[in-house]
Amino acid sequence: MKLNITRICALLLISVMMISCRGQKSEKPPIHPQQNMDFQDRFNAQEENRFFADGRSMRTPVEGTVARGQLRHDTVLFEGVDENGEFVDEIPFELTESFLYRGQDKFEVYCQMCHGGTGDGQGIIMTGGYGYVPAPTFHREASYNMPDGEIYSAIANGIRNMPSYASQIKVEDRWAIVAYVRALQRSQNVQESEMGRYDVDLAQLRQADAERRAAEEERAAQRAAAAGEEEVSAERGQQLITANACNACHSVDGTSLVGPTFEGLYGAERNFADGSSTVADEEYIRESIVEPGAKIVEGYDNVMAPYGYLSDGEIQSIIEYLKTLSDN
Ligand code: HEC
Ligand code: HEC
Repeated sequence: MKLNITRICALLLISVMMISCRGQKSEKPPIHPQQNMDFQDRFNAQEENRFFADGRSMRTPVEGTVARGQLRHDTVLFEGVDENGEFVDEIPFELTESFLYRGQDKFEVYCQMCHGGTGDGQGIIMTGGYGYVPAPTFHREASYNMPDGEIYSAIANGIRNMPSYASQIKVEDRWAIVAYVRALQRSQNVQESEMGRYDVDLAQLRQADAERRAAEEERAAQRAAAAGEEEVSAERGQQLITANACNACHSVDGTSLVGPTFEGLYGAERNFADGSSTVADEEYIRESIVEPGAKIVEGYDNVMAPYGYLSDGEIQSIIEYLKTLSDN
């Protein structure tokens, strides 16, 4: 085959193209032939601006002015409180069917995984053993008596260990969720004689309930069977306090948080809101964990959710650990 100049050139060109971009890094910005609107005369958030003495392009609003759409003087709507700072007992929207469904929709997105589909506090995050602070059930006296404004505030500002959802949920949607929580509370308190008015299959409900109870009993039986072989030690108790987020509300150094400190608790005299008192022995501590509402320590609120899922050995380990924090 006779080599001619065109063939040699073509071969050279192909080989140059194949090796040219291998393994070389460039500090230069890429060539950007098609500009579109990628580069504009404006400032990005946090960008420097030499025009102002402080060098910031992001400016605070002029003093005494309010930007359009940011006037929040209606405290009932935005904070759930009246002019005296008390939580309001009414939802500042008309309660229509679509408003309620909207609340349900948002509840299922933002609340259900913790508070459960019926609001019983048994959402998937709570029952999966992830060690999150348990969410209280909405079906108890304290929640029934909670003003609408306080539920709104729990969403807007968070409550104790629950974070705020203000950045994710709009004001109107928060109120729609409040309305749906109220509907959930009613839904769990309907007389059987009135159930005929609703479009539900009672037989199916009863069966689901029976299955749930059976599963609960089976779990309890499994726990009882395993109890004998379980390790009981103060070390395990200390780990359980962290793993179950007890330390979100109880300190071990004397500091009072949402709940009383564990320091010096074991064997100490306890005074309760109803005027009675007792000595903190094993039985009292066990009761405080599985049925916290039974005795409310004076000066504290009834906000601890029951830890029904802890095994006997786990509770006993916690008790052993609490003993090490006390000279009594
Ligand atoms: C990540 C889990 C989680 C999510 C999601 C969540 N909560 Fe909570 N909620 C909690 C926990 C935990 C508590 C108890 C906090 C405490 O006592 O320290 C709580 C407490 C509350 C309380 C106070 C109840 C009482 O009786 O004291 C209300 C009301 C409430 N939540 C409403 C909501 C609403 C409405 C949503 C959805 C917008 C929501 N929560 C989403 C975990 C959650
Ligand atoms: C959401 C906050 C919170 C969490 C989480 C919590 N508690 Fe409590 N606990 C309280 C409050 C508030 C009280 C006092 C009111 C009462 O008696 O119910 C209390 C009371 C107690 C008492 C009685 C204390 C005393 O001074 O007499 C014991 C024991 C206790 N908790 C153990 C636990 C254990 C163990 C855990 C974890 C498995 C836990 N708590 C998780 C809030 C909480």
